[in-house]
Amino acid sequence: MKRLRTAILGCGGFASRHAQNLITLPEEIELTAFCDIQEQNAREFSQKYNDGKGAIFTDHREMFEKANLDLAVVCLPPFGHSDEVELAGQHGVHLLMEKPIALSSEHAWRMVEAAEKYNIKTQVGFMFRFGAGIERLKELVTSGVVGPAGLMSARYFCNSLHAPWWRDRSKSGGQLVEQIIHMVDLMRYLMGDAVSVYSRQENLFHREVADYTVEDVSATVFGFQGGALGVIYATNGAIPGKWINDYRLVSQKLTAEFTNANNALFHFTAETPVRTETIASEKNVHLAELQDLLTAIRTDGQTRTPLREGAKSLDMALAATQSAETHQEVILK
Ligand SMILES: NC(=O)c1ccc[n+]([C@@H]2O[C@H](COP(=O)([O-])OP(=O)(O)OC[C@H]3O[C@@H](n4cnc5c(N)ncnc54)[C@H](O)[C@@H]3O)[C@@H](O)[C@H]2O)c1
Repeated sequence: MKRLRTAILGCGGFASRHAQNLITLPEEIELTAFCDIQEQNAREFSQKYNDGKGAIFTDHREMFEKANLDLAVVCLPPFGHSDEVELAGQHGVHLLMEKPIALSSEHAWRMVEAAEKYNIKTQVGFMFRFGAGIERLKELVTSGVVGPAGLMSARYFCNSLHAPWWRDRSKSGGQLVEQIIHMVDLMRYLMGDAVSVYSRQENLFHREVADYTVEDVSATVFGFQGGALGVIYATNGAIPGKWINDYRLVSQKLTAEFTNANNALFHFTAETPVRTETIASEKNVHLAELQDLLTAIRTDGQTRTPLREGAKSLDMALAATQSAETHQEVILK
């Protein structure tokens, strides 16, 4: 089996998570190139993950031109995306790309168009789709055995200043677009495309922090075909150092309570007495998303979350932000 010549584009905080997984697959992956506008970051990655033998680039255009790649893992901050999908497509390079894939719908759909035109395999980093509990729930919901989903609620609580770009709305898109988009994507995955959204977003706790222009409390209600509802409430003013992210889904015959994507209680509410199934797993969801992409590359198959899915979830998150800005419900096409 030919090893895939693989690059990391954007060698920052989160890229390490992917690098750690990539080096567990030495028979499949050859980490050959590292690109970052900060040359030192790329050098440090090369040192840490390839004994300093990786090619170093500070310009992704040059990397796609010269590095003879099969795969690139894109961990750019939201504002850092430009023409990398077009270039990857032209050079036949498959992509694992972190969310959100862009800051505008127009840019995201241009990416989709390029990936589909050049027929490259893409996977967006919505890793919760690979959680053991989410996989089981998806099976139950799509097979119809638990009846249609009626309500999903999701909570995202953290308290961190994050990176300077993160707290700048023009660079990150805001907490909902940058971070809580994970919950938006899970809702879409389990309940389908939303048809409406109403959102309120405020900065209540960080008004004194210079350049903090993103929301730190938000409440968002999505409407789905047939009347089902999804509620996401979030804050960046909760417990310092803790990321609390849990969710519940209620369908006609099931109430599922998630501690996280791998751990949940499923209550089968149409059975007497009500039966409870426990899902408890330590699955590495990031590795699973990578392996799903590798399988798609080897078999010319589909990934679970191609760029098209990333664009649709981005559109839902952007519509929520538009609703918050206008104080109006937004109807989605
Ligand atoms: N899936 C998840 O759970 C998860 C978790 C954290 C972050 N992320 C996503 O990963 C992405 C990166 O986040 P991060 O926390 O690693 O950010 P970061 O700021 O730590 O790292 C980004 C890196 O990209 C580099 N960079 C910026 N613009 C560039 C360009 N044009 N060309 C090359 N390099 C460039 C920066 O120098 C930096 O080294 C974000 O989109 C974020 O949402 C996903």
